[in-house]
Amino acid sequence: MAPPSLLDRRLVLVTGKGGVGKSSVAAALALLAARSGRRVLVCEVNAQERVAPLLGAPPAGPAIREAAPGLFTVNVTPDEAMREYGLQVLKFRTIYEAVFENRVVRYFLRVVPSLAELVMLGKILNEVRSQESGRPRWDLVVVDAPSTGHAVQLLRTPAALLDTVPPGPLRRDAQWMQEMLVDPAVTALALVTLPEEMPVNEAIDLDQQVRDLLGIPRGALLVNAVPEPRFDAGEQELLRAQQDDPPPLGPAAQAAVLQAQRAEQAARQVARARAAIDLPVTVLPLLASPAWDRSAVEALSEALGAGGAPWAR
Ligand SMILES: Nc1ncnc2c1ncn2[C@@H]1O[C@H](COP(=O)(O)OP(=O)(O)OP(=O)(O)O)[C@@H](O)[C@H]1O
Ligand SMILES: [Mg+2]
Repeated sequence: MAPPSLLDRRLVLVTGKGGVGKSSVAAALALLAARSGRRVLVCEVNAQERVAPLLGAPPAGPAIREAAPGLFTVNVTPDEAMREYGLQVLKFRTIYEAVFENRVVRYFLRVVPSLAELVMLGKILNEVRSQESGRPRWDLVVVDAPSTGHAVQLLRTPAALLDTVPPGPLRRDAQWMQEMLVDPAVTALALVTLPEEMPVNEAIDLDQQVRDLLGIPRGALLVNAVPEPRFDAGEQELLRAQQDDPPPLGPAAQAAVLQAQRAEQAARQVARARAAIDLPVTVLPLLASPAWDRSAVEALSEALGAGGAPWAR
């Protein structure tokens, strides 16, 4: 039997090195899930918003907004998350505004430096468990998480607090959040990388930290922007022989030889990642999209869906 799709988890955390395509992959994943009839929320974490604009919608800001049918986005900021947390604890807006916004917040931010992370993560995980008319509000929450080190810091906040904070409301929050993060029925982490030496090294490192330090269930490795092999060995030999021909054949052959070399190098890095990281691997194509916009996200989404497990709809 095919393994269950990661789209059936309630929370998918997308992370990886800076610039490898996390936001694009998060948007593509959300689109795939929304098109299969799921109600999806994408959370960016205090970011220069990418996901809604990539889908051709205006940025959501800190309030949840529909970017495509069934697909909602939000940019979770520390200020707004703090405000919501304060309102939850203190219940009354006037009290919050009179007390919490000033003295208490400053005090807490001083004594608990990771409070910003805790409230942002808390807001996201609250969405995961929130109910509407007796059923979960979201079928799937996708987090466009920060890159490597910042993601580890964010996702480690509940466990770190459990190590240090005495019993009380803060500890109770850290407790349910940590339980949700490590529950394989709820959460999966998707690691994004590029088919290049350094990004693959960083992915191997990050994967180790996810296993040993965070204990979050790992779901998939996505190797993004992989050039397709266009020429077999025989064709490559012919192309090499034509490289010095007069234009237009010579320059075209040169370009083709270069493309073949790149595809070969990328394939070697994909193989290296596969060997080092014990996860289902999804390869996403290098797209020649002049404007990185919705059409690019659509193409990535199709590639995800066509790949079958672990993203089968
Ligand atoms: N499959 C692909 N093919 C070609 N270019 C790509 C691909 N995926 C991403 N890119 C390029 O990489 C850029 C960065 O992508 P994206 O913003 O998704 O990365 P990120 O990991 O979220 O970056 P950051 O760490 O800054 O948040 C895109 O604007 C696009 O130009
Ligand atoms: Mg991003």
